[in-house]
Amino acid sequence: MVSGDLRFDGRVVIVTGAGAGLGRAYALLFGSRGASVVVNDLGGGRHGDGSSTKVADSVVQEIRRNGGKAVANYDNVLDGEKIVKTAIDEFGRIDVVVNNAGILRDKSFLKMTDSDWDIIHDVHLKGSMRTTRAAWPYFRKQNFGRVILTCSNSGLYGNFGQANYSAAKMGLVGLANTLSIEGKKNNIHTNVIVPTAGSRLTEDIVPPDFFEQLKPELIAPVVFWLSHEDCTENGSIIESAVGWTGKCRLVRSNGCLLRKSLNDGVTPEKVRENWSTVTDMSKAKTYDSIEEVTGELMSSLDQLRSNESSSSEKELTLETNYTYRDAILYALGVGATRQEPRDIQYLYENHENFSLMPTFYVSFGPIGCMSSDLLQDVIPGVQMNPTNILHGEQYIEIHKKLPTEGKIVSRFRVREILDKGKGAVILVQYETFNEVTNDKLTTNQMSLFIVGAGGFGGPRNSQHSVPCIDPPKRKPCASVTQKTSSDQAALYRLSGDYNPLHMDDNLASMAGYSEPILHGLCSLGFSARHVLQTFADGDPDSMKALKVRFAKPVIPGQTLRTDMWREGNRIHFQTTAVENNAKVLTGAYMDLKEVKTPSVRRNNCSASKNLECDAVFAQMGDYVNSHTDQVKKINGVFHYVIMDKGVPSADWTLDLKKGTVYKGKPEGKVDTTLTIEDKDMVQLALGKMNPQMAFMKGKLKIKGNIMLTQKLKSLLDANRPKL
Ligand code: NAI
Repeated sequence: MVSGDLRFDGRVVIVTGAGAGLGRAYALLFGSRGASVVVNDLGGGRHGDGSSTKVADSVVQEIRRNGGKAVANYDNVLDGEKIVKTAIDEFGRIDVVVNNAGILRDKSFLKMTDSDWDIIHDVHLKGSMRTTRAAWPYFRKQNFGRVILTCSNSGLYGNFGQANYSAAKMGLVGLANTLSIEGKKNNIHTNVIVPTAGSRLTEDIVPPDFFEQLKPELIAPVVFWLSHEDCTENGSIIESAVGWTGKCRLVRSNGCLLRKSLNDGVTPEKVRENWSTVTDMSKAKTYDSIEEVTGELMSSLDQLRSNESSSSEKELTLETNYTYRDAILYALGVGATRQEPRDIQYLYENHENFSLMPTFYVSFGPIGCMSSDLLQDVIPGVQMNPTNILHGEQYIEIHKKLPTEGKIVSRFRVREILDKGKGAVILVQYETFNEVTNDKLTTNQMSLFIVGAGGFGGPRNSQHSVPCIDPPKRKPCASVTQKTSSDQAALYRLSGDYNPLHMDDNLASMAGYSEPILHGLCSLGFSARHVLQTFADGDPDSMKALKVRFAKPVIPGQTLRTDMWREGNRIHFQTTAVENNAKVLTGAYMDLKEVKTPSVRRNNCSASKNLECDAVFAQMGDYVNSHTDQVKKINGVFHYVIMDKGVPSADWTLDLKKGTVYKGKPEGKVDTTLTIEDKDMVQLALGKMNPQMAFMKGKLKIKGNIMLTQKLKSLLDANRPKL
């Protein structure tokens, strides 16, 4: 539970149209909580006529009377850069822009003139864009910014006589959608407020007793919170009135395919036939990103493709119910441990980020094949049994966030049978769906090598198989080593793969092994965790897809070393059983949505706040990560104590022995401690301050091995062009 008053001390807030109504209530609240407020208002009439300094001045006086800081600005929001200039000239910075100014020119559409249309678009849409655009470079530079855009129910739902206003207001929703994406990496959040308040804009529209209850003061705290640094909301539409507040989103129906296969066309008649399904909102869904929507279109294409494939393919449906206990058991089976802090999210159902290991669904493959006759008779004359089937390769692609418990339907089919001479390969494809929402969750492929089953004259290569890819021919960027337990197979099998090859000495020896071997999918889970820990800061939702080849067996108790190579968002990996130096997983890779380097991970133990130089260290983190061998030559651990106006405010560690950069104090021995002001660190990184001069002037204090700092020059020089 977070407590304490929310404050805006040191922050500068622009509120446009703050001379009256909602804007006035926002400005007064910001002013009363420590913000320096730019009270902008043109002071014109309700329809955009005239101007006056009176209204802005009176709000400024009111804020000052209450002990706050404020300055007036009388510019039109179309001159947004002048409003931002006022903030910079008067207060030296800008943190929040609340775009609130507004007028009305209501007319029925038939009577609406170009000037009625243009003036509304100018004030609401272009004015918000111009003011926000002027503040944007400051937000980016300081790695912080909050933008509020003001929409209206007339925009969201339409209102007679407000075609110009509704269109401009919905334009602001589109603006927020994109600004929230563009600003995200610089901690710039953009949200939309949809107020309903008693003001001069609504005085003759709503009944008087309702008008009384529509107090702007009931909405101001919502805008205040959305503008606060602690609020992580971004890209949302928030409605607020009479002390009620809620979030509003676009929804889309489940829709339906209007053709049966890729060769089929769509006709107007097919559209008519399916119209009730197209518009059926009973299974409507919301989407978080354009990628999610495109992903669904790709799934529709997959479905069309699979409808086209031969009807002789065998199919099977498997229903699985799993609970959090299964999720935890699987995680333990693939080596998740409380000793690794980023694994606890897989092991404790009450953890705030309790998650399913993203490789969990691969385990349905062997279950589906073994619990059914899917594989029987697919190669005439060949009997399948646990001793002649080897799991060759595995692929999984994730389409939606995987639930920690649920009812899942897996649809299996034998996609292809390849003749490899001595043996045969059966390519099994399975897709998993949430039984309740019908959302497609994953697509999986499993290649099974059937010993001694080749020579039947089938194709040698597959068109459908997702290929393995060898890692780059250079040293790995990172490696993680973890010992498996001698009971690892005994634990992993409880997730459903009860093949006796992994437990039974006799059966293992019949299959040619000296002892029962570990499930290939178990090693896959170990390495997937290692990759996520190293390149996604442990975030399971980062994984998009994973492919591995099971090259050699692992004996339970052996140590697995996952070597990793980063190539953009693709992490190639290869896993070795250390004891016999056998490459057990090869040609493997994981595709991530984005790489999150633990090098810029926050160390929660140290008190720290966001500073300008954070961006410098984040940049260095990326560089160190991709040039590990080079930076390790510097061979030093540097502790930066970052000061903010003379007060120690954050610690950053450059551990170039291990090749990591993180926010927080060093975990082991330190070679050199450097103390510097936040702003000076940025100047130093930009090459605008000479380190020797800074040292001489006492702006840079160095303790420990001073000579080692000479070697840091190359690191700073290499990063400069990107800063
Ligand atoms: P208001 O008329 O009381 O306040 C708007 C202020 O903006 C006025 O003081 C006006 O002088 C100023 N202004 C107008 N054009 C300007 C310009 N070009 N440059 C600088 N200042 C300018 O209106 P109210 O009700 O407080 O509305 C604030 C915002 O909330 C508007 O964007 C409005 O469209 C929106 N809104 C209000 C609703 C309500 O129920 N009051 C409902 C939905 C949206």
